[in-house]
Amino acid sequence: MIIAENLVKSFGDTRALGPVTFSIPAGSHIALTGRSGSGKSTLLSLLGCLDTPTSGRLEIAGINTAGLGDAALSQIRLRQIGFIHQFFDLVSDLTAFENVMVPFWLAGEPLGEPKASELLKKLGLAHRLNHLTGDLSGGEQQRVAVARAVALGPKIILADEPTGSLDSRTGAAVMDLIIETATALGATLIVATHSPEVTARLPGKLTLLDGALC
Ligand SMILES: Nc1ncnc2c1ncn2[C@@H]1O[C@H](COP(=O)(O)OP(=O)(O)OP(=O)(O)O)[C@@H](O)[C@H]1O
Ligand SMILES: [Mg+2]
Repeated sequence: MIIAENLVKSFGDTRALGPVTFSIPAGSHIALTGRSGSGKSTLLSLLGCLDTPTSGRLEIAGINTAGLGDAALSQIRLRQIGFIHQFFDLVSDLTAFENVMVPFWLAGEPLGEPKASELLKKLGLAHRLNHLTGDLSGGEQQRVAVARAVALGPKIILADEPTGSLDSRTGAAVMDLIIETATALGATLIVATHSPEVTARLPGKLTLLDGALC
């Protein structure tokens, strides 16, 4: 599902990542670990096509991303990838329902409305559909973010410290939902985390040390 060959990301003179070479089979559930500054977020941004590598080759869901323009990369982001951020990254003056509608609107998907409300109900937010996300608790916001990330049935779910800003009990419940949802979709799941509890729940492991895999 993901093939990276000699992938490198530098910011000016600073090499944040690489070269790293690895492949991840479809449906794997992987913890991405390593201490602060080791390159986890940098790697997830490349895998999520939020940023482009300085050098190396990256294949996502059978598509070689090298040399693709912004329009093609945003189609990969929209269609193949669901991204969950530590601080939710929702539109705070839209409702929970509207936030989950965003990918359906972008995709021009006609059946978005029933799917968005069904997803939010499945994630335990039936009573929060029409609340502004800025008014929701952290755990509720992260469940909205999970619903938005999986709205279009991505093949790859990337999460950057998805429980990092939640208390441990709420974080565990959110992690349950992420794993259940990824399993139901048959999606590949990669979770960057500092949490031993989260790491223990994911069978695969990638560990970075100073930008290199170890
Ligand atoms: N936009 C940027 N400009 C310059 N340097 C950057 C940029 N983004 C990341 N870096 C550097 O790249 C290295 C890796 O950072 P990254 O954010 O990927 O680490 P991380 O493993 O996600 O850390 P944390 O666990 O703290 O989130 C760090 O040295 C960081 O300072
Ligand atoms: Mg990070």
